[in-house]
Amino acid sequence: MPTTATMAARTDAPRMDDPNWWRQASVYQIYPRSFADSNGDGIGDLKGITAKVPYLKTLGIDAVWLSPFYPSALADGGYDVDDYRNVDPRLGTLEDFDGMAQALHDAGLKLIVDIVPNHSSDRHEWFQEALAAPKGSPARDRYVFRDGLGDNGELPPSDWVSVFGGPAWERVTEPDGAPGQWYMHIFAKEQPDLNWDNREVREDFLTTLRFWSDRGVDGFRIDVAHALTKNLEETLPSTADLEAQGEALYLEGRHPYWDRDEVHGIYAEWRKVFNEYTPPRTAVAEAWVHADRRARYASPEGLGQAFNFDLLQADFDAGQFRKTITKNLAEAEASGASSTWVFSNHDVVRHATRYGLPASEDSAGGIMAGQAGKQWLVAGGRQEDVDAELGLRRARAASLLMFALPGSAYLYQGEELGLQEVGCEIADADRQDPAFFRNKGVEIGRDGCRVPLPWTSVGSSFGFGPGGSHLPQPEWFGGSSVEAQEAEEDSTLSLYRRALALRSELQTAEALEWLETGRDDVVAFRRPNGWTSVTNFGAEPFKLPAGEVLVSSSPLEAGLLPGAATAWLQ
Ligand code: BGC
Repeated sequence: MPTTATMAARTDAPRMDDPNWWRQASVYQIYPRSFADSNGDGIGDLKGITAKVPYLKTLGIDAVWLSPFYPSALADGGYDVDDYRNVDPRLGTLEDFDGMAQALHDAGLKLIVDIVPNHSSDRHEWFQEALAAPKGSPARDRYVFRDGLGDNGELPPSDWVSVFGGPAWERVTEPDGAPGQWYMHIFAKEQPDLNWDNREVREDFLTTLRFWSDRGVDGFRIDVAHALTKNLEETLPSTADLEAQGEALYLEGRHPYWDRDEVHGIYAEWRKVFNEYTPPRTAVAEAWVHADRRARYASPEGLGQAFNFDLLQADFDAGQFRKTITKNLAEAEASGASSTWVFSNHDVVRHATRYGLPASEDSAGGIMAGQAGKQWLVAGGRQEDVDAELGLRRARAASLLMFALPGSAYLYQGEELGLQEVGCEIADADRQDPAFFRNKGVEIGRDGCRVPLPWTSVGSSFGFGPGGSHLPQPEWFGGSSVEAQEAEEDSTLSLYRRALALRSELQTAEALEWLETGRDDVVAFRRPNGWTSVTNFGAEPFKLPAGEVLVSSSPLEAGLLPGAATAWLQ
């Protein structure tokens, strides 16, 4: 039976000064504009988060990760940052930020914020300066500007396509009014890529990391951590040239902008800044890279931890889960990090919905097509094929399994309510995601997992705030609200609370031992202190091993674990 070696144990609740607090933390992702709105403008804000600290505390998490809350035109939900060291006035002020950080810390919760270093917004003062400055100027050197091809530079420097669709280059109008150079944007055109060969860019981000660390931030989530460094020689390879090189291009770190080896030089500098603090600030990389290259991001000399999206991309399948878990635990151990587990976030279709889809090639993934993911739920799509009840049942089983794994568990707001993705209920006119617009609606985009949370069963925006909601909430949201679930012993919210409380109590050394179940569709493992998790991925009920059942994702039936369910035993 494969087992992983025992690593640093955490047998007590995390202490605020424990340098290893992150290793097995439960981290709750807040998408601030959609969490709680204190002032009724329809947009969630920092005071709204502060007011919900008691809710977060009762949920039983260890830390909160905030998606961007910086000033932004919201061309990409805040991942287009105008000013890295400020708060969007619609979300509050720096004082509100301090108040929120204090409230979280007083409750014993850590705070992680998102850093978006690959690109700024096109409203950032640097980019505005670059537009006003001539070709070849220091201001342009902070970004990736190139002359176009063709007789008059009228063609983009390459045929590269942006992640959101459409060209990855945009032409600017020079200060004298003439059509001019092109700038690179891997994402939306409002997100110009920064030039990480420029020392000023590097220094400025060190300042930003210190700015938030000084304000009490405990860790950072690094957005598209694998894209920063680029090799943009005079003649750029075409997409076909790149494709022809196959997997080797990625494995050898030779892609012109994804996952180049030099990127780790940046993170080595960041690590020095993190280590200036006590306890050291932590970081987790969002890096959609080949699994063989992920460990570099998670090294203790670098960011320290990296997301693996393997479980998120797996089907609800015993074999896939077991293989993925074994591989990722071994990988984390080899890099000195702890593993990360995640099923839902602000970029992918909620797992309660994904798991309700009939099995197909396209049943997992989000918008990261072309890098690692696949897409589904296309416009006019297959929402009618979703079996929401089955999806939720499986999602509860999968989450309970995740909470028993060694490593950090990342949860996304609303999954504790078992929320389904909001699909075709959002009218085209109400959509916000640039992925929707740049794909001309072929891909619905990510708005469906970003709809403001329902706190109450009825009332204005289901308790999200005293006003409306910046994305429309469907009628059925009320039934999934916190209020509706609070008193229900079998609700998903009650399950999460019970499981997270038990997880804190039972947390132990970072190891697991697989148990023989005699069935291919049942997965069971035991942690070093006897904490055992059994998941039945199949349909036939399963006889649990001896022991006290602590919690189960669905009620046992005649003492047996039913299909699509997980139980913990001690
Ligand atoms: C974030 C996305 C964002 C993109 C560009 C991602 O990986 O998670 O929400 O659109 O980076 O910043």
